[in-house]
Amino acid sequence: MTGNDHAVAFAGVSKHFGAHQALEDVSFTLRPGRVTGLLGPNGAGKSTLLRILLGLARPDRGTVRVLGAAPGALPDAAHRIGVAMDAVGFAPRPTVRRHLEVAARALALPADRVDRALEQVGLAGRSARTRYKSCSTGMRQRLALATALLPDPELVILDEPLNGLDPEGIRWTRHLVEHLAAEGRTVLIASHLLAEVQQSVDDVVVLRRSVLFHGPLADLVRQGGGSLEAAYFQLIDTCATSVGSPWTEASRA
Ligand SMILES: Nc1ncnc2c1ncn2[C@@H]1O[C@H](COP(=O)(O)OP(=O)(O)OP(=O)(O)O)[C@@H](O)[C@H]1O
Ligand SMILES: [Mg+2]
Repeated sequence: MTGNDHAVAFAGVSKHFGAHQALEDVSFTLRPGRVTGLLGPNGAGKSTLLRILLGLARPDRGTVRVLGAAPGALPDAAHRIGVAMDAVGFAPRPTVRRHLEVAARALALPADRVDRALEQVGLAGRSARTRYKSCSTGMRQRLALATALLPDPELVILDEPLNGLDPEGIRWTRHLVEHLAAEGRTVLIASHLLAEVQQSVDDVVVLRRSVLFHGPLADLVRQGGGSLEAAYFQLIDTCATSVGSPWTEASRA
C-alpha cells in the first residue's frame, strides 16, 4: 500500500487563513482495517484537515501521504477514496437511483455497482425510486454513504454521517462502518456525537488546531474514568484558554 502500513499519514501539517492559525503541527496516521473518529469542537480544523487530505486545500507546512501518494497526485483517487462530506451536489428532482447512476457513469463504473451500493445502504426497491426532494434525512444520509461506497473505495471519509439519524439509523450505520473496516478498508469519521462515536470507532483523534489525543478509543476512555465525554472535556478544557472557543469566550463574558 504505502510502503508501510499507513493508509494516511499527516506529518507536521500547519495551515493558516489570514491571521488565523487553523491547524498547527498536526501529525497522525491511519491504519487500514480501523475506524477512526475525528473529534473536536466547532472550528477545530476538522473540515480543513479533510480538505487537505483530499487535495482540496494545501498545507502551509508539513507533508501528507494518502494511499502512498501526495493528496491530489494519487492516480485513480476517485476510485480509491470514497467521500461523504455533505449533501451538496444532490439535485431535488432526480431519484436516489438516478443520482447514483450519474455518479457511476462519471467514474466509468459498471452498472451493477449502483445496485450493490443501493443494497449496501438499504435503499434498494421503492426507496431507490424516490426523488431526492422527497427523501427523509436518513435516506439522504444513506444516499451520501452510497455515493461514497460506489467505487468500492479503500479509504472512506465521512463528515458527520450520523447527523439527523434516528437510533436505528445510527445503529445501522455503525454496523456498516464495522463491516467496511472488517473488509480491510480505512475509515475516518468526523463527528460531534460522542456517545455514538464511542460505540463506532477503534481509534480517536481529538483535534483543536493541534492534535490533543491520538490513539485507541479505549485508552482515551480510560483517561476519563470510563467516560469518553469526561476525557474529551478534560482535553478540550485544558487548552481552552490557549485557543479560545465561542462557548468558553461566552462563559467568560
Ligand atoms: N476558506 C477559509 N477561509 C478562512 N477561514 C477559514 C476557511 N476555512 C476554514 N476557516 C477557519 O478555520 C477554522 C477551522 O475551520 P473548520 O471548518 O476546519 O472547522 P471544523 O472543525 O470543521 O468545525 P465544525 O465542527 O464547525 O464543522 C475556523 O476558524 C474557520 O473559520
Ligand atoms: Mg467541519
